[in-house]
Amino acid sequence: MSELPDHIAIIMDGNGRWARQRKLPRHLGHKSGVDSTRDIIQICSDRHIKALTLFAFSSENWKRPKKEVGLLMNLFFTALQREIKRLNDNNVRMTFIGDVSAFPDKLQKQISRSAEKTSTNTGLELRIAVNYGGRWDIVNAVRGIAEKIESNELNSSDISEELVAENLSLSDLPEPDLFIRTGGEKRISNFLLWQLAYTELYFCDVLWPDFNEKIFDEALESYALRQRRFGKTGEQVKGKPQDA
Ligand code: FPP
Repeated sequence: MSELPDHIAIIMDGNGRWARQRKLPRHLGHKSGVDSTRDIIQICSDRHIKALTLFAFSSENWKRPKKEVGLLMNLFFTALQREIKRLNDNNVRMTFIGDVSAFPDKLQKQISRSAEKTSTNTGLELRIAVNYGGRWDIVNAVRGIAEKIESNELNSSDISEELVAENLSLSDLPEPDLFIRTGGEKRISNFLLWQLAYTELYFCDVLWPDFNEKIFDEALESYALRQRRFGKTGEQVKGKPQDA
C-alpha cells in the first residue's frame, strides 16, 4: 500500500439490519459486530496504523428501546473484560471519548480499568467514542474556553482554530485521514464534526458484522488513490511550478 492513513475513524453501522436479515434479535447483531471490531483493531495494530477511533455509542443512541440499550451496556462490559488482555499484549493503548458519567457504575469502572491497564502502551492508539456527539464535543470545548475567559486566564481575542481544537476530544492525535461508515447511510451522524473537516470520507453498503480485511483494503486503496489538497491546487500538492 503506497500511502496508509495515520488515523482512521469508523462508524460501525448495520448490526441491527444484519440481525434482522437472519431473523435474529438485534443484540445478536451487536454481538457479531464485536467480532468485526476485534478483527479491525488487530489488523490496524498489525499494519502499524497510528490511531483508530470507533463510534460505539452515540449521544442519540439513548433513544433506542430501553432493552437494547441495556443489552449494549452489558455487551460493552463483557467485550472490554474479555478483550483487555489481548489488547494489552498487542501494545494497544485504549482510551475513551464521550461522557461516560451517564453509564452504569460497573461499566464506568471497567472503562477506567481498561484505560488504566493499557495507559503506558505505545502501539495503536485506540479511541472508543461512547455517549459521544460531535456537537457535545464542541459545546464542551466552548464552555472550557469561556470558563478560562471568565477567570481571566484567556482573552476573547485568544480564540483561534488552534485553541478550539486543543479543547476538543482527540486533541492529542492528528485529525482522522480516513473516515469509514458501513451500512449504506451516507451521513456523519454527529460523529467528529470538527475533526473530520478535511478527512477523506468512505461509505460502503456492507453491514458492520460482515466487514472484513478485504473490504478494509478496498477503503485503504480508495484512500491511497485520492489526492488530498487541503484547499490547494493539484499542481501545488504535486510540487509543480506555479504562476504567482
Ligand atoms: C450501529 O448499528 C451500531 C451500534 C449502535 C453499536 C456498535 C457497537 C459495537 C459494534 C460493539 C463495539 C464494542 C466495543 C467494546 C468497542 P445499528 O444498530 O444502528 O444497525 P442498524 O442501522 O442496522 O439498525
